[in-house]
Amino acid sequence: MKAIIVTDQAAGTAGMQLTERPEPEAGINDVVVQVHASGFTWDELTWPSTWTDRQGNDRTPSIPGHELAGVVTALGYGTTGLSVGQRVFGVTDWYRNGTLTEYVAVEARNLAPLPGDVDFTVGASLPMPGLTAWQGLFEHGHLRAGQSVLVHGAAGVVGSMATQLAREHGAYVIGTGRAAHRQMALDFGAQEFVDLESDALEDVGGVDLVFDVFGGGIARRSAGLIRAGGTLVTIAGPIDARPANGMTVDFVVEPDRAQLREIVQRVRDGRLRTHIGNIAMLDDAVATFNGTKRHHGKTIIRVRP
Ligand SMILES: NC(=O)c1ccc[n+]([C@@H]2O[C@H](COP(=O)([O-])OP(=O)(O)OC[C@H]3O[C@@H](n4cnc5c(N)ncnc54)[C@H](OP(=O)(O)O)[C@@H]3O)[C@@H](O)[C@H]2O)c1
Repeated sequence: MKAIIVTDQAAGTAGMQLTERPEPEAGINDVVVQVHASGFTWDELTWPSTWTDRQGNDRTPSIPGHELAGVVTALGYGTTGLSVGQRVFGVTDWYRNGTLTEYVAVEARNLAPLPGDVDFTVGASLPMPGLTAWQGLFEHGHLRAGQSVLVHGAAGVVGSMATQLAREHGAYVIGTGRAAHRQMALDFGAQEFVDLESDALEDVGGVDLVFDVFGGGIARRSAGLIRAGGTLVTIAGPIDARPANGMTVDFVVEPDRAQLREIVQRVRDGRLRTHIGNIAMLDDAVATFNGTKRHHGKTIIRVRP
């Protein structure tokens, strides 16, 4: 099967190669999925899991891309709830080969059914940003209607999902980003926008929740905005920023079939919009990832036309 592999961590996307790899087999709890569309997070090649297994051993050549939409072609033992021929979407394990390929073995629990009226391209764009936003806002941030939330990177892939979900939930949403992102963040539902390049973050006043995608100094300054009992949730890794009278949670998104169903239902209802940037075919993917034009939104690689 065709697959994009990486072997050289220092090379970044320039080290991606389109090559032939053996088709995977379904292990215990796995299904094999024929990938129709694959989602790639722009900084995946900096994640340790792209290069090593859980023991820290080199696992290259590895196949990046950890979101997919496709059709189940084989079932291993214990693949509750899925059947051969079913349309599915979801995430693959960070420490296993991913989805920039024709077939992938993935644990059944990482997948949910993809309704027939949702395109594979849209399906592949939802899992990471959808689950990350959902878990950050509701599981870790315990967001309630009427509360205020500061969403960093509100015009970005994850931030635009968080903005929409928080707004639908009845929260007051303040988005942040670069000056050029203002209109996009407002279009996704932010009620206010802070241009991090020229506005003073401190002028926001108090918020109940911060949804952080940056870490570093921005997360530290945001901690100071959080009201008593509030939470700083970050997806940027462990940070030392703490609200004076609240807590900080950093987390890595987890697969969740029920949440995937909720997310895709909102897309079907027109309540949630995905943020897709560039779409390319697998044969053109390496050139796309190394192109000079900067695309905002999620890059989706179509594996089947
Ligand atoms: N922990 C987890 O489970 C998890 C899950 C998903 C993603 N992530 C991580 O979360 C991060 C965000 O992912 P994403 O896909 O949402 O990325 P993204 O689409 O690039 O979103 C980030 C947004 O913030 C903007 N931005 C970046 N630096 C900025 C700055 N200094 N000031 C103002 N705006 C700035 C970006 O604008 P420009 O494009 O103009 O830079 C973009 O609009 C990535 O590092 C990803 O790996 C973590």
